[in-house]
Amino acid sequence: MNTFWNQLPQPTFMLAPMEDVSDTSFRELVMQISDPRFFQVVFTEFTSTDGLCHPVGRDNVISRLRVNESERAVLRSKGMKIVAQIWGANPEKYFQATQFITENFDFDGLDINMGCPVKKIVKQGACSALIGKPQLAAEIIQAAKEATHLPVSVKTRTGIKRHDTEQWIAHLLGQDPAAIILHARTQKDQSEEPAEWDEIRKAVAVRDASGKNIPIYGNGDVNSVQDAIEKCNQTGAQGVMVGRGIFHNPWMFNHPQPDISTADRLELLWRHVTLFDSTWGHEKNFAVLKRFFKIYTSNFAGAAHLRAALMETSSPAEVREILDNFLRKAEASDILQNSNT
Ligand SMILES: Cc1cc2nc3c(=O)[nH]c(=O)nc-3n(C[C@H](O)[C@H](O)[C@H](O)COP(=O)(O)O)c2cc1C
Repeated sequence: MNTFWNQLPQPTFMLAPMEDVSDTSFRELVMQISDPRFFQVVFTEFTSTDGLCHPVGRDNVISRLRVNESERAVLRSKGMKIVAQIWGANPEKYFQATQFITENFDFDGLDINMGCPVKKIVKQGACSALIGKPQLAAEIIQAAKEATHLPVSVKTRTGIKRHDTEQWIAHLLGQDPAAIILHARTQKDQSEEPAEWDEIRKAVAVRDASGKNIPIYGNGDVNSVQDAIEKCNQTGAQGVMVGRGIFHNPWMFNHPQPDISTADRLELLWRHVTLFDSTWGHEKNFAVLKRFFKIYTSNFAGAAHLRAALMETSSPAEVREILDNFLRKAEASDILQNSNT
C-alpha cells in the first residue's frame, strides 16, 4: 500500500512522541522555528486505547489528541504530517479507539506504541511487552488497520532483554504496517544505554530481503541534521525520529544551524509559556512547563541563575517579571547579542 509515508523526502525527520512534552503547543513552536526540508512529521503523546474507549476515562486522555488551530495552520503551511499515537493491550479496544480517532479528528496517520518500557505499562501487557507476544501484536495491528483508512505505523524497540531485531522486524513486516519506527534499544536498556544503530541496519536488511516497500526509521541519540544524515547513510534507514535531542537544541531541525542569540532563546521561552497557557489554562499544571525552562536557558552568561529563578515561578506573570528583570540588567552588557556556541 502506498501512503504518505512512501512520499516523504528522504532522509525524513520527525519529532518523537513524548509524554508531557510533545503536546500541541510544543509541536507548534518547534515547527515554527524549523526548516521543513529537515522536518516532516510530528506525533502526539501516547494515548490509551482503554481510556479512549471508556465513557469517563475518555475525558482524561483526550487532551493528548488536541491539535490547536494555530498548530494546524503551521502544519498546513509547512506541508507537514501529524500522527496520533495510541497504546494498549486489547485488539478490540484498538479497533474502537482507532475508529473513534478516525471519525472525530483529523490526523494523517495512526501509530501503535510497541516500545514504552515503563514498568506499570509493561505490567499491563502493553507497549514493549508486545515484543514478547507476537501473536497479540499481530492481532492489534490488524484490528487498527481494519478500523481506519489511515496508514497504521508501529514504533517499537529491538527486543526485550536482548536485541531480537531480525526476528521481530520480520514478524512486524508480515503484518504490513505502513511504516516502522525502530528505537535502537531493548526494553531492558530503557533510555540509558547508547542506541545501537547497527540494529537499524539489520532491520533495513530484513526489510530489503522481504521485498516490501515499508519505510524503516531509526530512533535513538540523534542530535543534529548532520548526525541523522550520517546514520541514515550507514544503515539505509529512510529517516530518523528525534527525542531528547530537541531538549539540547530546539532549533535542531535546521541545516546549517542558524545563529541564535540570548534574546531569541528568551523570546521562544516566552512564546512557549503564553502558548501553553492559552492552550491549557488551568487544565494542566504550570509545573509541566518547568521541564522546558532548561531548554531555553542554556549557553549564555547568567543562564543558570535565570533558570533557578524561573523554576520558582508558578504563573506566566511571574515568568514575565523575571524575564523583564533579566533583560533590563542584560541591556547594559552585550549579553543579548551573544550567539550560541
Ligand atoms: C519525556 C519522554 C516522554 C516519552 N514519551 C513517549 C511516548 O509517549 N510515546 C513513545 O513512543 N515514546 C515516548 N518516549 C520515547 C521517545 O519517543 C524516544 O523513543 C526515546 O526518547 C529515544 O529517542 P532519543 O534517544 O532521541 O531521546 C518518551 C521519551 C521521553 C524522554
